[in-house]
Amino acid sequence: MGITAIRGFNDILPSEIGKWQFVEKTVREVFEGFGFSEIRIPILERTELFSRGIGDATDIVEKEMYTFTDKGGSSLTLRPEATASMARAYLEHKLYAFDPVAKLYCIGPMFRYERPQKGRYRQFYQIDAEVFGVGNPVVDAEVIVMLIHFLRRVGLEKLELQINSLGCRDCRPQYRDRLKDYLTKKSFQLCEDCQRRLQTNPLRIFDCKGTTCQEAITDAPKVTDFICGGCQEHFEKVREYLSMAGLDYVLNPRMVRGLDYYTRTAFEVVSYDLGSQNAVTGGGRYDNLFQEIGDLDIPGIGFAIGMERLISLLPKGQEFVQYPQLFIAAPNRETYEEAYRLASQLHLGGIRAEFDYEGKSLKSQMRRADKLKARFVLILGEEELKKGRAVLRNMWNQSQEEIPIDNLMGILKNKIRKD
Ligand code: HAM
Repeated sequence: MGITAIRGFNDILPSEIGKWQFVEKTVREVFEGFGFSEIRIPILERTELFSRGIGDATDIVEKEMYTFTDKGGSSLTLRPEATASMARAYLEHKLYAFDPVAKLYCIGPMFRYERPQKGRYRQFYQIDAEVFGVGNPVVDAEVIVMLIHFLRRVGLEKLELQINSLGCRDCRPQYRDRLKDYLTKKSFQLCEDCQRRLQTNPLRIFDCKGTTCQEAITDAPKVTDFICGGCQEHFEKVREYLSMAGLDYVLNPRMVRGLDYYTRTAFEVVSYDLGSQNAVTGGGRYDNLFQEIGDLDIPGIGFAIGMERLISLLPKGQEFVQYPQLFIAAPNRETYEEAYRLASQLHLGGIRAEFDYEGKSLKSQMRRADKLKARFVLILGEEELKKGRAVLRNMWNQSQEEIPIDNLMGILKNKIRKD
């Protein structure tokens, strides 16, 4: 075996790509229908954007970023997520000057140096949607409604929406202190990492999968018991709007999310068909992110869907591979040139046509048409060709008919439309 891909970095092969294209097409249809516009942002950013935006004491910034110094001496990082970059772009291009409300989405690869396993990769794709400039809880519900609508449109049904409120700058410190006091008494149960988290970021202990850490947090104080009146009211409104939209949800007071920018609403969509990496989507509100990276008081909310996880959940049996619509079988030199001429014409007309490049026997060309799962085969016999005609075989039912070649495009389009 020669050079192989890096661990945790995947190729998406032609046999899989139809699913990706279907998902991306549906994203564009649904999100744009909700008033979102696409934005494309760079894959590399200054490291500072993520350390300030996501938080120094998060796993992502502490241990998972692909960071290097470029030839000019700047510290750069392959983006581990898109929210901070989208906020940076909104500030840098003063999008708020046109309209303070921006509804943006992007699709692309993210990079995290995590331990690869099923559903967890080092390069993975996210579909990310963000609304900047609205603090009203109605928009929290609106983005969640869009998310669930999208997930249903691609065929996902057995999902659970979990929500929580993480409080704000005013009320979370109190909760953090209470949690720290509580867990300090149980620190002998905590793993080495969580002992450290206890000092730097005790909320992160909720995400530890270690059995003794899980035991330690079983009866830990709940964040929702500590949130201030403003956060409480915001959360109640979000829940009311979700119910108005007919969405079921589960309250999960243990869901704290892995990035430090969150305030108030946090949510995840999980699937019990995914195994241990069960979150298809994570998101929430981040009303202080813009202050961290740009000194402006702008609220925001959004989510990111993990595309690999989403694609692994698509209903089975749906056909996503594109097969040739026509294979032109040409048994000798004269007919071969006609095959080339016809295929070029059909390509310009948008028909997926193939022919044989090697001058193989008719039998082997028919075998190839079969293997490629071509919908129709056009057999260019020398005698028929002299009369401007050829045999069109329907590969689904093996019926065949002689047709005039000069009307090939029209005949094919008509037949394909009927499928
Ligand atoms: P996150 O929870 O870190 O949030 O990631 C969102 C989703 O990306 C996860 O639910 C999962 O489906 C997928 N994901 C994360 N890491 C991996 C991985 N290593 N391999 C495969 N899939 C993965 C964020 O990234 C936030 N920026 C979401 C957000 C947007 N919050 C507000 N706006």
